[in-house]
Order: sequence, then C-alpha cells, then structure tokens
Amino acid sequence: MWDNFFFIGLPYIAILMFVGGIVYRSLSGIMSRYRAKWDLSVRGDYLWTTRSTGFFGRASIGPASLCLHWGLIILFISHLVGFIGGSYNFGSWIEFFKWAGLGGGIIFLYGALWALLRRIIIPQVKAMSTPDDYIVLLFLILIAALGLYQSAIEMVFGISFLAGPWMASIFKLQPDVSAIAGAPFINKLHIIVAFLFFAYFPFTKLVHFASYPFGYINRPFVSVRRRRTER
Ligand code: HEM
Repeated sequence: MWDNFFFIGLPYIAILMFVGGIVYRSLSGIMSRYRAKWDLSVRGDYLWTTRSTGFFGRASIGPASLCLHWGLIILFISHLVGFIGGSYNFGSWIEFFKWAGLGGGIIFLYGALWALLRRIIIPQVKAMSTPDDYIVLLFLILIAALGLYQSAIEMVFGISFLAGPWMASIFKLQPDVSAIAGAPFINKLHIIVAFLFFAYFPFTKLVHFASYPFGYINRPFVSVRRRRTER
C-alpha cells in the first residue's frame, strides 16, 4: 500500500503540481501586484527571478553557481540515459549513468554547499535571503547526498533497471510498482524526496527555469562592476 502511495500517487501529484504550478503562476501573477489579473505574462512578479546575489561576495558566486548548474545539467542527462537504459536493458547506458552521475553529483554538491555557505557567512547575502533560498538548497543537497551515499559509499548501483521500467509505466499512464518495490530503502527515499521537491518547485525562485520569453536563457550577462570616478 505504501509503495502504491509513494510510487504512484506521489509521482502524479508531483507532476501535476510541477506543470500546473508553473502554468498557474505564470498566468495569475500570484506573487505580484498583478495578482488575479489573468495575463500571458509574469511581468511584475519579482519573485519569479532568482534575486541575484552576485553583487556581494563575488569571489564565491563563480564556483557556487557554475558547479551547481553544470552539476544539475549533467545529473539530469545522466538520469535520463540511465532510465532509458534501464527500460531497454542497455547495460552500457547504466554504466554511463554511474560515472557521469558520480561526476555530476560531486560537482553539484560542491557548488550547492558553496551556495549555502555564502548565504550564511556573507552578511549582505544573508540579509536578502528568504526561507525558500535555504529550503531549495537543503532539498537538493539531501537528494544528491542520498544518491551519492548509495552509489559511492554503499557501492550499490544498477537500480535503474528497476527505476527505468517503473518511470516508463508512470509516463504511459499504466502505473506498475512491482519493479521499484524491490529497490533499496535509501534509493526509495532519494526518489520520494525528489518528488516532494518537484511538487514544491513552482512556488520557489526555481520557477525561473521556465522563463518566458526564452531569450532569458541566452541573454547577455548582466555585468556588475565597480564604478571608478575620475578625480
Ligand atoms: C524523481 C526524480 C529522481 C529519480 C526517479 C531518481 C532516481 C535515481 C536512481 C534510481 C539512482 C540510482 C541509479 C542506479 O543505481 O542505477 C539515482 C542516483 C543519483 N541521483 Fe537521482 N533521481 C531523481 C532525482 C534526482 C535529483 C533532483 C538529483 C540531484 C539533486 C539526483 C541526484 C542523484 C545522484 C547524485 C545519484 C548518484 C549517481 C551516481 O553516483 O552515479 N537525483 N537517482
């Protein structure tokens, strides 16, 4: 029964909240003064942005932001490859997940720990931080730590052979928990916390991931420099 709840109910709730939450927030302006004025725009929703902290503690924003984002991108791609490999029994794809996931996980943890630390020790960054700045980092650090604990410390790998078919059953709308029910506890916890995180995602600054217009992704860097005044 618990397996049904956590591996059928929770994934569908999380997917609905993830997609529905992003659409609702982008149309309703819920966090802004445009609240309740339905519009195809998030203009004025200042909490949609990441509230850049790059003005302060510039030396640490580099390792934090670069490692965190590249780590996540590598992890996303390696999970995808692993799940497809697990569904079709491609051993080499799982091997790719193992090593790319390990590398991505370490890079990600390094960046995320930096990001958390700079929110705690740089006074200006601490002052501008809101609870969700900390909560999203703690969520992600916990998820990555559970994944790495299992693969790098317990040295258990190959759960994708169970997770792949189960994920495929979810997306085919024919949910079947028989495979994932046999996964180790740590891996189940990893997946459950990840789904809780995805359900929470649209209500945090991470919603910037779905930014429209998409020019946001390749817009020029915002350069923050010290202004030298001529005497
Ligand atoms: C619903 C989403 C997710 C699912 C279903 C999932 C599932 C899995 C599974 C099954 C493994 C073990 C692979 C194996 O033994 O073959 C794994 C490993 C891992 N996951 Fe996730 N995961 C999810 C989200 C995340 C997220 C958001 C992160 C990052 C914060 C993450 C980070 C990791 C890491 C670092 C590993 C270890 C990789 C390695 O050492 O090779 N996962 N995940």
